[in-house]
Amino acid sequence: MRLVLIAFVAMVASSISHVAVAQSIEEKAAVCAGCHGENGKPVSPEIPVLWGQKEGYIYLQLRDLKRGDRKHEIMSGIAAGLEKTDMQELAKYFSEKPWINLQQKSADAPTASQAQQVASSAQCEGCHLSGYLGDSTIPRLAGQSETYLLKTMSEFRSGARANNAWMVTLLKSYSDSDIAALSKYIAGL
Ligand code: HEC
Ligand code: HEC
Repeated sequence: MRLVLIAFVAMVASSISHVAVAQSIEEKAAVCAGCHGENGKPVSPEIPVLWGQKEGYIYLQLRDLKRGDRKHEIMSGIAAGLEKTDMQELAKYFSEKPWINLQQKSADAPTASQAQQVASSAQCEGCHLSGYLGDSTIPRLAGQSETYLLKTMSEFRSGARANNAWMVTLLKSYSDSDIAALSKYIAGL
């Protein structure tokens, strides 16, 4: 997977350097489609769904990736090539697209009940809102790729993703099994 992505980065590197001067939002967004999907379905489960994600959240992630507050071998480089206005336009553009159904299976009953117990003790829906649909700078989680959810929550827990102190502290109190159950449950909503 890593190799495929790295090869792809080399491929899109030239187009990315043109992002800042690209004329239309479609041209800017074309670079993103190579990984986040032509029709909103990412090309790999490690890549999050961007279509229909919340505008404020998308913008903040691009900003944090450019600043280095959030780090990723591929996205950091991509965000580094974006100006603030590009980030704002891209955030608006992708947030207005329909969320794509990844057709992930619903969690089985024991997994769902473990996840719901954790979620109510941690008040996940208090912030991510009912049905995990998010709003503004709070990301939508419902139906997000399970592989990505597991990866990013594990990274909050280890501190590898440290751009939100609250999520880091909160997830530290839960076990690997809890995080896995949450990922499966939320992905299947
Ligand atoms: C070469 C593949 C690739 C390309 C091209 C790419 N992305 Fe990404 N993107 C990723 C991966 C992989 C992640 C997951 C990062 C992580 O695990 O922390 C990601 C994560 C993100 C996130 C964070 C989403 C979240 O739920 O936290 C945003 C926002 C984003 N990308 C926007 C963009 C935009 C806008 C473009 C085009 C300018 C773009 N990406 C181009 C691979 C790519
Ligand atoms: C106090 C509010 C709050 C609570 C409670 C909370 N979150 Fe979050 N969560 C956030 C915010 C804000 C972000 C965006 C962080 C950022 O900007 O990087 C976030 C980000 C996330 C992400 C990253 C999404 C992505 O696309 O990368 C996941 C996954 C997540 N939360 C899961 C959970 C789960 C599961 C719970 C309950 C165990 C929970 N959160 C509880 C506020 C909260």
